[in-house]
Order: sequence, then C-alpha cells, then structure tokens
Amino acid sequence: MGADPMQLNGKKALVTGGGRGIGQGIALALARAGADVAVADLDIDIARETASKVEALGRQSLALEVDVAETGSIARMVDDATAAFGHVDIAVNNAGIISIKSVAELSAEDWDQIMAVNARGVFLCTQAELRVMRPRRFGRIINVASIAGKVGFPDLSHYSASKFAVIGFTNAVAKEVAAEGVTVNALCPGIVGTGMWRGEEGLSGRWRQEGESEEASWERHQKTLLPQGVAQTPEDMGQLAVYLACAEHVTGQAIAVDGGFSL
Ligand code: NAI
Repeated sequence: MGADPMQLNGKKALVTGGGRGIGQGIALALARAGADVAVADLDIDIARETASKVEALGRQSLALEVDVAETGSIARMVDDATAAFGHVDIAVNNAGIISIKSVAELSAEDWDQIMAVNARGVFLCTQAELRVMRPRRFGRIINVASIAGKVGFPDLSHYSASKFAVIGFTNAVAKEVAAEGVTVNALCPGIVGTGMWRGEEGLSGRWRQEGESEEASWERHQKTLLPQGVAQTPEDMGQLAVYLACAEHVTGQAIAVDGGFSL
C-alpha cells in the first residue's frame, strides 16, 4: 500500500491571520495532518493561543506578530518561520478584513484599507514565500479569497474587488511558478460564523432587521442565503487546506467551500 496521500508529516506551514476564526481552523487541521505550524497574526496574544493548541496536538509551533499591510513585517515573518523550521512548505495567506459601505458612501481611504490587507497583503506574502519556496522546488501556497471573489454583493464592492483580485493574482502566479514545484490556489469560504459574521460588529450584527437580535439575524442569513441552510465551519476550510497542501497537480484554482451559495 502507498503512503497516505492526505498526511503532512514533517511539513512546515505558515498561516497568516491564524489567531482565530478560519485561520485557526486551518492551522489546527494542518497540525492534525502532521505539519508543524507557524501562526502569524496582527494580534500576537491570539497567535500564541493558536500556537499552544498546535503544540497540544504534538506538533511544533511558533507565534509571530505580523501586519500583512507592511512589507517589512512580512519579510520578518517569513525569515522567522524559516529560521525556526529550516524552510516553509505550505503558506496560507488568510489574514483579511471587511467593512460594509455602499459604493456612494465608500471613501478612497476605505478602498485603500481593504485593498492593502486583502489584495496587496496576499501579493506581498506570496512574493516573500516564493523567495524561500522556489529554490527548494517545492511549495503549496493557499490564498484565502471568498465567494465574494466570484460574485459581487451589495455594500461590499470594495471587499468583492479585493477578493476578485486575490483570485486573478492566484491564477496568474500559479502559471508563473507551475514548472517549479510550487502550486498556488485560492480557497473561497462562503459563510463562516467567525468574528467577521458574528457579534454586534459582524455582518449579522450590522445586517439586522428592525427588532431582530444578532442571533436571529445570523439564523436568517444562513436559511435565506445558503442552499444547505447551515453555515460552513473553520474545520471545513481546514479540510480543503489539507487537500490543497497535499495535492501535486491542482494549481491556479479558486475552490469554493460554500454549501452551494455561489451556484
Ligand atoms: P476573523 O476576523 O475572525 O479573523 C481574521 C484574522 O486576521 C484575525 O485574527 C485578525 O487579527 C487577522 N488580521 C486582520 N488584519 C490583519 C493584518 N493586517 N495582518 C495580520 N493579521 C491580520 O475573520 P475570518 O472569518 O476568520 O476570515 C479569515 C479570512 O477568510 C479572511 O480573508 C476573510 O476575508 C475570509 N472569508 C471569511 C468568510 C466568513 O464567512 N467568515 C467568508 C469568506 C471569506
């Protein structure tokens, strides 16, 4: 019998925005599959919490502070992960932000802020990660986009634009590095009940109907938007990330884990 194709024993991974939500789900799924995981986040305290959870699974981990809007900060993150682990095999560029504004209300600053983290951040992280992957002729880059990178949503035009950018960038770079053992794919979550959706400041808090609780709004959005009627989980995203980290011949794709939302 051949080796288990879905195991990552000995592989070294780096996850941005890994302190909570989808990034944490992906970091733990990679660790369960056997990888050691560097967890990078703007908030070092939550990065440390995820790193402890990775270690509790019996893998090596380290927490790194990063701002993916800053070139120097990204270079330090990749250098520190490489110094600790020797190299980086798998990089998940997951850090992202959202805000809700109609196109009429949207300022140039709002646009630049979203682009700086969601689109430019993915570009800069990918570029820095390729510098350490290409010489080894092995790498798996997974850029977390969104179904908002496949279809537009009202009041999220800037967010959608940033995620369409991630998918276009991913597709182009995948072709650039395809012959060098590096795959580059986009993972497109649908609706996941992380801080991005939940709470007063999340989408379900902001998109409440009159007199509706945040919890009821969350339930309504799942029922009305999702063909399956239930949200996806960080673990669902982790499953696809493990697959993409293992797959040798899947590259340039933007794969939705959205329960049929974007159909
Ligand atoms: P979240 O808000 O729970 O977590 C985002 C993480 O990224 C946080 O730990 C935050 O500290 C970190 N972060 C934010 N800005 C950063 C920066 N400049 N540098 C480094 N880290 C930074 O959000 P969630 O839901 O886990 O989102 C993760 C990714 O998934 C994002 O790219 C988001 O756009 C995408 N996504 C989420 C969906 C959802 O339904 N929750 C749906 C589609 C896409």
